[in-house]
Amino acid sequence: MSYDPTTDKTFTLTNDQTGESVKLPVYDGTEGPSLIDVQKLYSQTGHFTFDPSFTSTGSCMSGLTYIDGEKGILRHRGYNIADLAEKSSFMEVAHLLLYGDLPNKEEKENFEHEITYHTMVDEQVNFFFRGFRRDAHPMAIMCGVIGALSAFYHDSLDINCPKQREISAHRLIAKVATLAAMTHKYSIGQPFMYPRNDLSFSENFLYMCFAVPAEPYKVNPILARAMDKIFILHADHEQNASTSTVRLAGSSQANPFACVAAGIASLWGPSHGGANQAVLEMLDKIQSVDRIPEFLARAKDKDDPFRLMGFGHRVYKNFDPRASVLKTSCDEVLEDLGINDPRLELAMELERIALEDPYFVDRKLFPNVDFYSGIILKAMGFPTSMFTVLFAVARTVGWISQWKEMIEEPSLRIGRPRQLYIGPTEKQYVDLDDR
Ligand code: SDX
Repeated sequence: MSYDPTTDKTFTLTNDQTGESVKLPVYDGTEGPSLIDVQKLYSQTGHFTFDPSFTSTGSCMSGLTYIDGEKGILRHRGYNIADLAEKSSFMEVAHLLLYGDLPNKEEKENFEHEITYHTMVDEQVNFFFRGFRRDAHPMAIMCGVIGALSAFYHDSLDINCPKQREISAHRLIAKVATLAAMTHKYSIGQPFMYPRNDLSFSENFLYMCFAVPAEPYKVNPILARAMDKIFILHADHEQNASTSTVRLAGSSQANPFACVAAGIASLWGPSHGGANQAVLEMLDKIQSVDRIPEFLARAKDKDDPFRLMGFGHRVYKNFDPRASVLKTSCDEVLEDLGINDPRLELAMELERIALEDPYFVDRKLFPNVDFYSGIILKAMGFPTSMFTVLFAVARTVGWISQWKEMIEEPSLRIGRPRQLYIGPTEKQYVDLDDR
C-alpha cells in the first residue's frame, strides 16, 4: 500500500508537571477519524500510552474494510456490504479483499478455479481427527487441524516470497472450508465427504457437510445462496480481536497457517465469534416471550455475568448493517424452507423490547451480526456448536487478506506493546531455609 497519511496538522501534548510540550503528527485516512502518531512519544517524553482494550488506538493502516459505527456503515474496498450481500458472491468478495477489486469474468473464473483445486487436504490430515473425542467442540478441532497445516505445506511457508504468500492464501481459503466440513462430519460420526470440483464454493461446502456416500445429494440452491450470503457478511471486519491476533502473530513472521490458527482461537470467545452459538443457547434458555423481562433484568445486573448475547458492539453504536441483512434473510430462508422456528419470533420480540429499554438505548446496544445468524444456520441443519466454525470459514478470507496487506508493508516490524508495571520493586533473594 503506498498511501501517504501525513498532514501538516499536529497535536501538542504538554506535561503539566514540567511544562514541556511535544508536537505529535496527525494522519488523515481517506475516510473516518484522523490518528495521532504516538510512535515517538516514549523517546520524546519517557511516557507510554495506556489503552488496554484499544478503544482509542489504531494498530495499522488498512485499505480493506471501513466501518462507521455511528452511521452503521460497513464497506469492503469501498463497496457497501448490503450491495455485496445482495449482488455479489463470496468468491468475488474474497478476490476483492485479497487483490483490491471485484474480479472481471476472466479473473473470477481463474480465481474460482484456483480455490476449487486447493479444496482437497493431504490424506494424512484425516488422522489428526481420530485423536479427538467425537464430542470435542468443533472449534477445538479446528484450532488443532488448521495449525497442523503448517506441517504439510513447506513449499509455501516463505512469507517473503509473493508467490508462496499467494499459494498459502488460496490454500487456507479453500482448505479451512474442507476442514470445517470434516469437523462437522467427525462430530456426528459420519464419513468425510471429499470436495467436488463441479460445485461452487458454498455448494461444495454444503455438499461436504450434508452429503453421505450412501446416496446422491443435491444441494438446495436456496441454502447455497443463504450460505454464500452468510460467508460474505462474515468475511472481514476491520481490526477486530481475531484479526488483530492474526496480525500480531504475523508480525513475528510466523507462517500464515499458524497465524490463522491463532485467529481461530481468538474468534472462539463468546464475546466475539462464539456469540452466534451463545445467542441460540440464550434463546433456548429464555424459551418464551413472557420470560424476556427476567433476562433483560439479568443483562442489566452488574453482579450477574449474563449478557444479552448478540447485542452490543465495540464499534457499532447503531444497527450492525450485517444484522439487518441477516434479519431479512432469516425470514426468506425460513419461509422458503417452510420452517416456523419459534426462536425467530422470540428473537424479534426480544429485539423490539430491548430497543425500547433505556438501558440498551442509552448504551447504544443494537443487535449485531451474531443475533440472527444462528437462527438461519439452525434452519440449514447445522448444530449450534458449528456456528463459530462457519464464522471462521468466512473470516479466513479477511484474516489472510489482512495478513497479506501487513506482510506487504515495507516497514513491517514485530508488534511489541509495553505496560504499566504494578508489581513489587527490587527484592534481595531469600534462600529456602530463610523463607
Ligand atoms: C463480533 O470487533 C468486531 O468487529 C467483532 C465482530 C466481527 O465481525 O469481527 O463484529 C463480531 O464479535 C460481534 C460481537 C459479538 N458478541 C456478543 O454479542 C456478546 C455480547 N456483547 C458484549 O459482550 C459486548 O457488547 C461486546 C463484547 C460486543 C462489546 O464490548 P465493549 O465494547 O467492551 O462494551 P462494554 O462491555 O464496555 O459495554 C458498554 C456498556 C457496559 O455497561 P456500563 O458499564 O456502561 O454500565 O454496555 C453494557 C456493558 O455492561 N453491555 C451490555 C452488553 N454489551 C455491552 N449489557 C448487556 N448485554 C450486552 N450484550
